[in-house]
Amino acid sequence: MAEQSTPDASPPTPSSKGDASKEGAVGTASPKEASSGNAPLREAVSQKPSPGGAISRRRLIGTAGATGLALGAAGGAAGYAAAPSADQAVPLSSLGADEVMFHGKHQPGITTALQARGHLVAFDLTAGVGRREAAALLRRWSATAQRLMAGEASGSEDTDVARDAGPSSLTVTFGFGHSFFARTGLEKQRPIALDPLPDFSSDHLDKARSDGDLWVQIGANDALVAFHALRAIQKDAGSAARVRWQMNGFNRSPGATAQPMTARNLMGQIDGTRNPKPSEADFDQRIFVPDSGEPSWMAGGSYAVVRRIRMLLDDWEKLSLKDQEDVIGRRKSDGAPLTSGTETTEPKLEKTDASGKLVIPVNAHARITRPDQNGGAAMLRRPFSFHDGFDTDGVPDAGLLFVCWQADPLRGFVPVQRKLDRGDALSVFIRHEASGLFAVPGGAAEGEYVGQRLLEG
Ligand code: HEM
Repeated sequence: MAEQSTPDASPPTPSSKGDASKEGAVGTASPKEASSGNAPLREAVSQKPSPGGAISRRRLIGTAGATGLALGAAGGAAGYAAAPSADQAVPLSSLGADEVMFHGKHQPGITTALQARGHLVAFDLTAGVGRREAAALLRRWSATAQRLMAGEASGSEDTDVARDAGPSSLTVTFGFGHSFFARTGLEKQRPIALDPLPDFSSDHLDKARSDGDLWVQIGANDALVAFHALRAIQKDAGSAARVRWQMNGFNRSPGATAQPMTARNLMGQIDGTRNPKPSEADFDQRIFVPDSGEPSWMAGGSYAVVRRIRMLLDDWEKLSLKDQEDVIGRRKSDGAPLTSGTETTEPKLEKTDASGKLVIPVNAHARITRPDQNGGAAMLRRPFSFHDGFDTDGVPDAGLLFVCWQADPLRGFVPVQRKLDRGDALSVFIRHEASGLFAVPGGAAEGEYVGQRLLEG
């Protein structure tokens, strides 16, 4: 916990155990970065030290920037609970001070470590709105995202909701849906990869909560910071676009566990272990559209598949631990393969028990979804959990806002979901209730807005 209040402007060093650049991808962090939860973002997260050594941001509580008071672990924790008196200012914890860069080759919110709070929101352009107005909207949105991600107030009529907080690893990510292109006369620019996903026999999709002309993903390690951004983005839409659907999600708060760990989902499983890692040679090729890719405005971009997946928790929780572990093929406690070892041990897929049965069942989710079982299909899973209350019969409306990223959905999500659709052991415990596919262009360069190469190309 000490890191939460200890300033650290030096470049993070790889840790011996949880080397995030190797194991990390989304959801794991090195011990040093445990409190920020931003392990993969070493180059993109900045914590600005004040001259006095304490982390200082424009919105620092009270006069912390001036006093440069750096607290130890206990003081940092107390800073959340008790309002500081005027002469006892508390610097932002590293969690609040963590800043993700808006500009870059790729948009933020893809390789950024999972944040504690997320909002997914889709918009439809309003009648009569075309390319020009859409371009103006993306320009407004980009300016707002840039300001808020830097911990600044939004351009106009800021609501003060995030006033006392730092950027808290806020990311705002923008994507275009299939329907955007006809609405704006840009059909010729529509990527083939954005062709509608095939129907899957197990789908129970609610069309009203699926698709959309535009998609925005917001993530932050503070719920108020995330809501503030959501509201600013919605207000920026003005009369140009209307919210089509919106979903709220969460992940574990950075620093909640004694050491950095891969996230757990609402079934209790460690989820994200085998995600592609930014340190792997083929990571970019799997996740991002290459510079030479088509259409050219998607260079550096990625395709996001979004699925609201309800977990049938009443059924799931009736299973014995052994049965739950057989469904996935991994131990629930530590995510290790059932064939032993630790979370990162390679599973022995052919290993049998004394009776000749495969130790990792033939229909185990973690066996069936592997790239080597699906012609190399791989994706970066970066979900949020959701819980939207209980149905009248007491059944939880909870599950996974499954967001996965890939250079081409036909070589990522689609073949794997086709396989799962035919039935893996997990399928009977989940239900896909909403779906979207969005083209997420590369990051905006300095002076550029997201999507400019499409809208002004
Ligand atoms: C609520 C639904 C789901 C749950 C609870 C779930 C859970 C898990 C868990 C616990 C693992 C093993 C640990 C890991 O490597 O992350 C895993 C692996 C994986 N899942 Fe899922 N999953 C779900 C849906 C999906 C869907 C819809 C897809 C794609 C169509 C998918 C693709 C994968 C992939 C690609 C892996 C890693 C396989 C590997 O490389 O070894 N999952 N999932």
